[in-house]
Amino acid sequence: MSKILVTGANGQLGQCIKELALTKGTKNTYIFKSSADLNITEYAQVIAEFMLGQFDFCINCAAYTNVDKAESDLDNATNVNVIGAKNLATACGKTNTTLLHISTDFVFDGTKDSPYVETDITSALGVYGQTKLLGENEVIKNAPKYYIIRTSWLYSEYAHNFMKTMIRLANERDALSVVSDQTGTPTYAKDLAEVLMHIINTNPIAYGIYHYSNEGIATWFDFAKAIFEINNNTINLSPIATEAYPLPAKRPKYSVMDKSKIKQALQIKIPDWKESLKSAIKALD
Ligand SMILES: NC(=O)c1ccc[n+]([C@@H]2O[C@H](COP(=O)([O-])OP(=O)(O)OC[C@H]3O[C@@H](n4cnc5c(N)ncnc54)[C@H](OP(=O)(O)O)[C@@H]3O)[C@@H](O)[C@H]2O)c1
Repeated sequence: MSKILVTGANGQLGQCIKELALTKGTKNTYIFKSSADLNITEYAQVIAEFMLGQFDFCINCAAYTNVDKAESDLDNATNVNVIGAKNLATACGKTNTTLLHISTDFVFDGTKDSPYVETDITSALGVYGQTKLLGENEVIKNAPKYYIIRTSWLYSEYAHNFMKTMIRLANERDALSVVSDQTGTPTYAKDLAEVLMHIINTNPIAYGIYHYSNEGIATWFDFAKAIFEINNNTINLSPIATEAYPLPAKRPKYSVMDKSKIKQALQIKIPDWKESLKSAIKALD
């Protein structure tokens, strides 16, 4: 039996882990800490929690995730994504805890045209990706036992995400334009949660960086179209170019990730993004 600390527990990934721990049953003990319970930017709080808890694993779901706001909020993004990651990694090192740290496809600049592998050169385009990348480095430097799981385009029935925004907009508007020249893979946070729990329950796989998203590829336009089809929304949807919809943060044009390493290590089959989207929309009922 393992004792597992989950940070950032009120975010969408944290809530998915909580739901699975409750509904699927687990021989492990999960301890969920929201940002109000445990601020990962405060080392004194973090180390006290780890000393008291004597955890076997920590899943870090806490992050500064507002990609556009980060462009004008470097200090706060750095505090959570870099200092927070360093604090957790250091506490894990001091207490012999294995850290599962979540990172992002936005560590890549999107200039490739084939799926990114874990060893590809990173070069983040914006503050969010840059701070997540620096956070990865802190984990590697300070946690002897770590898994960095890079994921992409997370959505779920919980918290704020693209799927929920699209469904809200479909109820408010008759027409919508969505960018059709950024390609990646939507990932159901519950599928990611299952894989994280699987890593914990498997005989240790090699420490290091792993890519995990759902299978398949899509543009944001494809993603929106599938949401409306599955949810039976009638809305006039049009594709637009990124330049026609300027946002503060630059995003990679292509950020599909190669999942061979995690599939091989865990001997898993990953669900296709459209199949998982159906499950997520069903879970909204
Ligand atoms: N969302 C995506 O599309 C996406 C894509 C790729 C990778 N990821 C990565 O996946 C992970 C999970 O993302 P998510 O979508 O579940 O994010 P989320 O829903 O935004 O949740 C993040 C959580 O972190 C908490 N948090 C923020 N600052 C904190 C602090 N100082 N101490 C403790 N907790 C803090 C937030 O609490 P408050 O709400 O109280 O601030 C929030 O509950 C993150 O590492 C993210 O970078 C996300």
